[in-house]
Amino acid sequence: MNDNVRPETMERITTKELAQAFIDEQVDKIQKQVKDNKVLLALSGGVDSSVVAALLLKAIGKNLVCVHVNHGLLRKGEPEQVIQVFKEEMDANLIYVDATDRFLDKLAGVKDPEQKRKIIGKEFIDVFAEEARKLEDIHFLAQGTIYPDILESDGIKSHHNVGGLPEDLDFELVEPVKLLFKDEVRVVGETLGLPHNMVYRQPFPGPGLGVRCVGAITRDRLEAVRESDAILREEFAKNGLEGKVWQYFTVVPDFTSTGIEDGKRTDAWPVIIRAVNTKDAMSATIEEIPYELLKHITERITHEVKGVNRVLYDLTPKPTGTIEYE
Ligand code: XMP
Repeated sequence: MNDNVRPETMERITTKELAQAFIDEQVDKIQKQVKDNKVLLALSGGVDSSVVAALLLKAIGKNLVCVHVNHGLLRKGEPEQVIQVFKEEMDANLIYVDATDRFLDKLAGVKDPEQKRKIIGKEFIDVFAEEARKLEDIHFLAQGTIYPDILESDGIKSHHNVGGLPEDLDFELVEPVKLLFKDEVRVVGETLGLPHNMVYRQPFPGPGLGVRCVGAITRDRLEAVRESDAILREEFAKNGLEGKVWQYFTVVPDFTSTGIEDGKRTDAWPVIIRAVNTKDAMSATIEEIPYELLKHITERITHEVKGVNRVLYDLTPKPTGTIEYE
């Protein structure tokens, strides 16, 4: 039997009871597979890797070694939440690597979107491989592969996120959620006690804010993306749009325009708001954000985010616009 094929008899995991049965079964399976050995996991803080981490923690505790690489392109508060949830609350063996300078130095001056993605993907593998080599006696690698990744081998994840590990790092894979769909992974995550906002968060691309800081990334423009994104997310959460809108974020293009503040002319960037709904990310429609909320967000972003003097609202569906800007 091909263990990459979901059996037709497998029930869809929709309730905590079904999730608990799945968890018990996987814990047993993982323990039998890895025995007393250590298992390595790249923990991004995204839904899939977080659920795999929580499952493995339950199965093997401190024998799970999580590596969280901060590439400097994460959203505000994200690395802190990974450390808080996994290290402080779940007592996981977590290695935190702040590789921000390394990524941003490599990306300096690089404008081409695919080149940016390649650098981020390669650097990520390099940092992770360096950490893996520092650890001795690790033969297992856990991954948050889910069923859609297997079904669409040219799907979004494999299409965009380049790279595999170097040949000297030859691991046996542990992929406990590889037959699950995303909604099932979320139910399993909640049943494992992960925070709701971690399990139900919107999709976030591997290259992170890097594809929302259009063109060559600079530290100050990247900060404008991060701060405006944090304001947008906060306001969406306050106004009941979190969980309702599929994906929403801000983009900062690499041009400035004239503005005015305190009677003085300014030369600053615009922030673009994008909020879309979709089923499969192949096409998308626009979320109609209430005008009052848009005006409030504009007020906050223009006053609180350094280097910004305008806010623009993107009304373009996909097609013709892609969801991301690069
Ligand atoms: P586009 O921009 O192609 O995005 O309409 C469709 C979905 O894919 C996500 N996306 C990515 N995800 N690595 C990822 O893991 C990437 O390089 C990447 N580029 C786009 C995007 O956020 C949207 O959900």
